[in-house]
Parts: sequence; C-alpha cells; structure tokens
Amino acid sequence: MNFLLVIDLDNTLVGDDEATLAFNQHLQSKRSQICLIYATGRSHNSTCELIAQKQLLTPDYLIAGAGSEIYKDDKLDLDWAEYLSQNWDKIAIASLAQQFPQLKPQSPKEQNPWKLSFCLELAPTASSVLNDLQEKLAESGLAAQIIFSSNRDVDILPQTSNKGNALTYLQKRLQIPPDATLVCGDSGNDISMFEQDARGVIVANALSELLE
Ligand code: GLC
Ligand code: MG
Repeated sequence: MNFLLVIDLDNTLVGDDEATLAFNQHLQSKRSQICLIYATGRSHNSTCELIAQKQLLTPDYLIAGAGSEIYKDDKLDLDWAEYLSQNWDKIAIASLAQQFPQLKPQSPKEQNPWKLSFCLELAPTASSVLNDLQEKLAESGLAAQIIFSSNRDVDILPQTSNKGNALTYLQKRLQIPPDATLVCGDSGNDISMFEQDARGVIVANALSELLE
C-alpha cells in the first residue's frame, strides 16, 4: 500500500447514495494500492451500522469518535488509548461541563473514555458559551480541546486527540509520506485533518465552519 486515503463519512463519503456507490466502485478497482481510513465523529458501533447499511468498503483503519479512538479489525488501538489517557481527567472535565446548562449531553452511546459529547443549540451565543468553557478549563488546569461541528455538536477530547493527530499517528506508523496522503471532509471535526501535512479535499457541500 502506497497511498493513504482518509475520508470522513457523514456528508463526505455518505449522503448521496448514487455518488457513494460510484465512488466505491472506483475505489474498489484501486483497493490494493490504498490504505483506506474512515475518520468519523461516530462511535465504533454506529460506524459499523453505517458501513453495513450503505455497503461501504471495509476500511483498513477506523478513526472513530472524532479521533478519540482508533480501530483495526474492530480492535481498539491500545497504544493510542494509553497516549490519550495521559493528562486527561474526564471526571473533572465532566463535572466542570455540568456547570453549563446550555450543554445537553448526547446519548451515552456517543460518549467514550476519551470523548465527552454535547449538543449546543444556540447558534448566536454558541461561541461565547464555548469561550467560557475553554476559559474555565484553562483556569482549572484541565488539558482538553473543544471541537464544535455542524453548528450543534460539542466534543471535548484530550488535547493530543482529534482526527488530524490520529491520522498523523497512523501515517507515521505506516510510513506513508504526506504527499501520498489525502484527507477529505466537510465539517468542524475535520478541520484538524487539514492542519496536518497532507493533501486535502474539502467537499462542495462543506460547512462554513470548515471553509473559514
Ligand atoms: C457524530 C457523533 C457525535 C459527535 C459529532 C461531531 O455525529 O455521533 O457524537 O459530536 O459527530 O464530532
Ligand atoms: Mg462529516
């Protein structure tokens, strides 16, 4: 394998069934030359459901939970997990987040040991809520990053996490050079992929949060 293809799922690879099918057929013909990675905000379970439902190709690696987990053959990458666990106090961060009534926890299925996820449906004031949260985290000495996607989803992850850092970790492990790495995405949790050393495709239906 001499090419790394890292694709977001919702509204990038998936969203238009006809286009997904055509793209998959094209990809299938090059499959042996490509290391295929799906990078999604979804949990591992929810991603497996989507792969079955849309008949997507089986990836070589899955970056799930917005970069908080990496899977190979449905097995969690424990080195990545251990790396993210350093300097990460999920319990303290969760109790701090509880002080923000605007943050409504997402379903327990979307939470994992390295990801706290909420909904924030207050577009005009969302950025001030997120700034306050960032400040409170810093004041409390809690290392974390906040990722805002689709004008609604708030993910709090370890500082060392996110899709971009996860893809760079795999890129190094597989020894694939940046100019043979292509990342594709549409929304806020994809921004970190475009900050890495790689080529990129922002899909035509991308949201302004990524375009900006
Ligand atoms: C997916 C996940 C959700 C997350 C969002 C943004 O929708 O299900 O938990 O907040 O992506 O990363
Ligand atoms: Mg997407």
